[in-house]
Amino acid sequence: MKLDYSALYTYFSEIELKKCLQENMEVLQRAQMGEREFEESLGWVEVEEWAGLNQLEFLEKQAERVQADGDILVLIGIGGSNQAARAVIKALNKQGKVEVFYAGNTLSPYQMKRVLEYLENKSVYLNVVAKNFETLEPGMAFRILRQYLKKRYGEAAASRVFATGTKGSRLEELCKEEGYQFLTFPVNVGGRYSAISDVGLFPMAVAGADIRALVQGAGDMAKQLSGIQGTENEAYRYAAFRNLMNQKGYQIEMLSFFEPRFRYFSKWWTQLFAESEGKENKGIYPVASECSEDLHSIGQFVQEGTPIIFETFLEIEEQDTSIKITGDDVLDGFQYLEGMDLDRINRIAFNATRKAHSERFPCFCLSIPRIEEYYLGQLIYFFEYACYLSGRILGIDPFNQPGVENYKSYMFEALGRDKLDRT
Ligand code: PA5
Repeated sequence: MKLDYSALYTYFSEIELKKCLQENMEVLQRAQMGEREFEESLGWVEVEEWAGLNQLEFLEKQAERVQADGDILVLIGIGGSNQAARAVIKALNKQGKVEVFYAGNTLSPYQMKRVLEYLENKSVYLNVVAKNFETLEPGMAFRILRQYLKKRYGEAAASRVFATGTKGSRLEELCKEEGYQFLTFPVNVGGRYSAISDVGLFPMAVAGADIRALVQGAGDMAKQLSGIQGTENEAYRYAAFRNLMNQKGYQIEMLSFFEPRFRYFSKWWTQLFAESEGKENKGIYPVASECSEDLHSIGQFVQEGTPIIFETFLEIEEQDTSIKITGDDVLDGFQYLEGMDLDRINRIAFNATRKAHSERFPCFCLSIPRIEEYYLGQLIYFFEYACYLSGRILGIDPFNQPGVENYKSYMFEALGRDKLDRT
């Protein structure tokens, strides 16, 4: 994985960039030593803690059980509880025997009906993921889907349910009472940092992902980021520079990619940074841009609108699919592309966009060789660590999310939750 930030030199002097790196060095040092203040949220930092070899073997065995006769695994979860698995599964697009379908991330009855219709005549398994099992969306979806399962499979339904929750949570109790398979949601890891644990790894394994390679990638990145001190630490550089952008008035970071398989990865990234950093009236607003489609929508704003955006490109270096543009009897005006590969055209569009945008605002470029488990593991860990550092430079707690409670209190009041609890 490579991070190119050379385009920043057009906007900032070397002295300014060096000063920014020196000023925040303490944040990196504290993170590398292990911050006591956040020890209840830093369980993801040591990859081994929740994704050691024994745990991976256990998860692979559980996944094989689904693969043996399952057609579909419904992943019930929201926010950090489903984003990482969906990001990896959609990026790899393995087309394995078991399809992973998503529920519990909306309250739309239309969507729930669609899910139920889709399950007909398929062999169905459920994986409900909820840290404390208090969130409304997964709670509702799980109730509807387990009732559906019971109708179809009777007593055997329980063996088709995997529940990922924290030890001591209501979800763990339900596993004991109902006979579901319990998986562990690490108590010292928040949802959006939980990719490399049962939360993310079990559904990924069911979908056919090589979770050992993914964990290896994350682990190698962890070694790098915890070992490299000072300004050579890539996550630190990225974190420090994005804060510099913010101070200079670039309040939006746009993650851009030219491969639609990254659509859900960008959603994971957006959630990670938005929920971690957007607090105390601070933070960089993260948005995604799926190119080249979005060049034909927000591209105009990006190039000539209010100058508040900086951009991080995600590049995949190696071609994995080839489609040649062949000659045609119809003179459609695109003859100049004949003989070229679609991949080359996509790369030319990528480079042209990078050049045009770099002329307007600061751009980073993060490259991985291929879309493979190992590199996705690296990327996930890199962004998690960078987000942690970036939040600390910003001076906020990157692991809480007090703001999301506001709408919930109105919603629960309107739904009468507390009244019911008291009776
Ligand atoms: O990142 C987070 O902590 C949140 O996005 C949570 O994952 C999300 O709110 C879902 O929470 P829970 O797993 O408790 O249902």
